[in-house]
Amino acid sequence: MADTAGFDVIILGGGSGGYAAAFRASELGMSVALIEKDKVGGTCLHYGCIPTKALLHAAEVADNSRESEQFGVKTSFEGIDMAGVNAYKDGVVARLYKGLQGLVKANKVTYVEGEGRLVAPNAVEVGGTRYEGRNVVLATGSRSRTLPGLEIDGTHVLSSYEALTLDRVPSSVVVLGGGVIGVEFASVWRSFGAEVTIVEALPRLVPLEDEASSKVVERTFRKRGIGFKTGARFAGVEKRDGGVTVSLENGETIDAEVLLVAVGRGPVTEGLGYEENGVTLDRGFVVTDERLRTGVPGVYAVGDIVPGLQLAHRGFAHGIFVAEEIAGLNPVPVDDLGIPKVTYCDPEVASVGLTEAQAKERLGDDKIETIEYNLAGNGKSQILKTQGFAKLVREKDGPVIGVHMVGARVGELIAEAQLIYNWEALPDEVAQLIHPHPTQSEALGEAHLALAGKPLHVHG
Ligand code: NAI
Repeated sequence: MADTAGFDVIILGGGSGGYAAAFRASELGMSVALIEKDKVGGTCLHYGCIPTKALLHAAEVADNSRESEQFGVKTSFEGIDMAGVNAYKDGVVARLYKGLQGLVKANKVTYVEGEGRLVAPNAVEVGGTRYEGRNVVLATGSRSRTLPGLEIDGTHVLSSYEALTLDRVPSSVVVLGGGVIGVEFASVWRSFGAEVTIVEALPRLVPLEDEASSKVVERTFRKRGIGFKTGARFAGVEKRDGGVTVSLENGETIDAEVLLVAVGRGPVTEGLGYEENGVTLDRGFVVTDERLRTGVPGVYAVGDIVPGLQLAHRGFAHGIFVAEEIAGLNPVPVDDLGIPKVTYCDPEVASVGLTEAQAKERLGDDKIETIEYNLAGNGKSQILKTQGFAKLVREKDGPVIGVHMVGARVGELIAEAQLIYNWEALPDEVAQLIHPHPTQSEALGEAHLALAGKPLHVHG
């Protein structure tokens, strides 16, 4: 039996935040226990980022085969074999899962399978066994939220969890919520041939992104035949034979085979002994300072249970930060504004830093400058036949404080944009750097050239 006392760090939850904390702590020479009730890798690997992106890739392949004629290539699209799509998706997850289990072993982390509960500020109990440590990291993640009275039945009313394992392409879908999960699934199902209608309470799709990005997504979705109702609030759902009737507050009703509920994710903190042991919660989230310390000495929190962006890469960063903090390395706190965000629908949306509206609110209308470089001027984007833009927001006479992009594959470009943002680069500094031709990355280079007053491929 494993030694259950005297760990340097005990981590409750083996998702992105938890396992990153475990590996980094172990690298730094600490003894670590990682407690997980399901599978190491958590939501991201098993029920989130990875499987959804596999579905989105299959969707892209479907679109390519349908639209190949425009590139002079003749194919015929015969349909979606959901069993085949799921086997591909599950294969990707399985390989990564195996790799991750290998890393747990290689890092000499004591892996404890079971449901843990905080029973003292320095102890977690799992199935009657008490594990004690000098430090405890809470990393229990998030789960799909729903609305009062709206029950996920797993058959016709789904959360993203059930949607990921559907064995068929539904003929029609209502997607409740036009945020990240909503537009990603809408995009997949449309490519797979479903009739899709998104219902979003706020005035635009992907409402947290820059308004210009929402406009391109809406325009492209319209062209793709994805219906959406913005400024529309959900009133109720009635089940009927073979489907649902969704009603909105404005009296409209929509019939569909399936309703996907994508109205956000809530923290998993209930019934885990957090509050009983002095950890402060706010609407279920764990309150921490910027060094991710809860009010209880030696107890930290990471990832989706900490208010802010719910992103796997934020979880990784939190986990590494806390391990280094415990080791006394005085790491730099994670700033949510510097975290790149990607929505993988078609077209992709990627951003870092402030939107134009946020920048105006913080600095004043006359203190900022923006530029939108249209992908029409970018050779590689023309080759791919994608539309969109790279938009920069800068402080006047100062650094770039926001980068926003829409178009095929722009998710891959945001890595450079986050360097620019986080290094507080000036547009003329970036303008000096050379981007390879022909790549989509040139759009970022061109936008900086234009902002530095020396545009190259810009019309009028
Ligand atoms: P979200 O917060 O992004 O979007 C939920 C949307 O539902 C909001 O736009 C909200 O206005 C709308 N809504 C709420 N109540 C409503 C109502 N009664 N009627 C109509 N609309 C309503 O949450 P989502 O999409 O569920 O995603 C959860 C989390 O998972 C997010 O924080 C997201 O960042 C993360 N995630 C990230 C991904 C990525 O990075 N690519 C992919 C998927 C999820």
